[in-house]
Amino acid sequence: MLKSSYKLNSITFITGNPHKVKEARGILNNLGITLEHADLGYVEIQGNLEDVARYGAKYAALRLGKPVIVEDAGMFIKALKWFPGTYSSYVQDTLGNKGILKLMSDVSDRYAEFRSVIGFCTPKTEPEVFLGTVKGRIGYEEKGEHGFAYDPLFYPEGYDKSFGELGRKEKNQFSHRRKSLEKFASWYKIQEISK
Ligand code: IMP
Repeated sequence: MLKSSYKLNSITFITGNPHKVKEARGILNNLGITLEHADLGYVEIQGNLEDVARYGAKYAALRLGKPVIVEDAGMFIKALKWFPGTYSSYVQDTLGNKGILKLMSDVSDRYAEFRSVIGFCTPKTEPEVFLGTVKGRIGYEEKGEHGFAYDPLFYPEGYDKSFGELGRKEKNQFSHRRKSLEKFASWYKIQEISK
């Protein structure tokens, strides 16, 4: 149960990534939730996506003094033993897409997935986490100008266009972020408010 001073039709997203904000705002607006944004910075512990999201959400909710969401996400490539996974951000900044393509140059199993975990917390409650996954495959070259980071490499299952070729609206229909935020929104909307 949440405190009566909280509105259940808005939430603050803590992230330093403007692409994530645009995507999340589009997704949540369609689900009747207004997204506020704060680039607060929060501690990222070592661990899986759920651990990072739980810890980050709790830390940010306590610092900001209100309910927040954070997201920890990544791309997981099966043939590379699920690398870069939780190292996605660092690997994007170091190896980049060209480095990933090199690692995949002789690999025929191109299966990969994006995962997104939304962590929600208030200053008075324990964190909740919501996982969204989208399956796909790694292409043989970068394609498309839309999106960010690994998007030009990733072909969602059933599509012959990469996330980089799909516009934001289309990506938002079925992305990992859409799925995790949708789970969060369904849960959030039915929370009771304590008097
Ligand atoms: P974090 O969630 O901010 O730790 O970052 C995860 C990293 O995964 C990002 O910096 C990107 O490199 C990558 N990533 C996560 N979601 C996406 C996406 O939707 N498209 C492309 N890359 C993504």
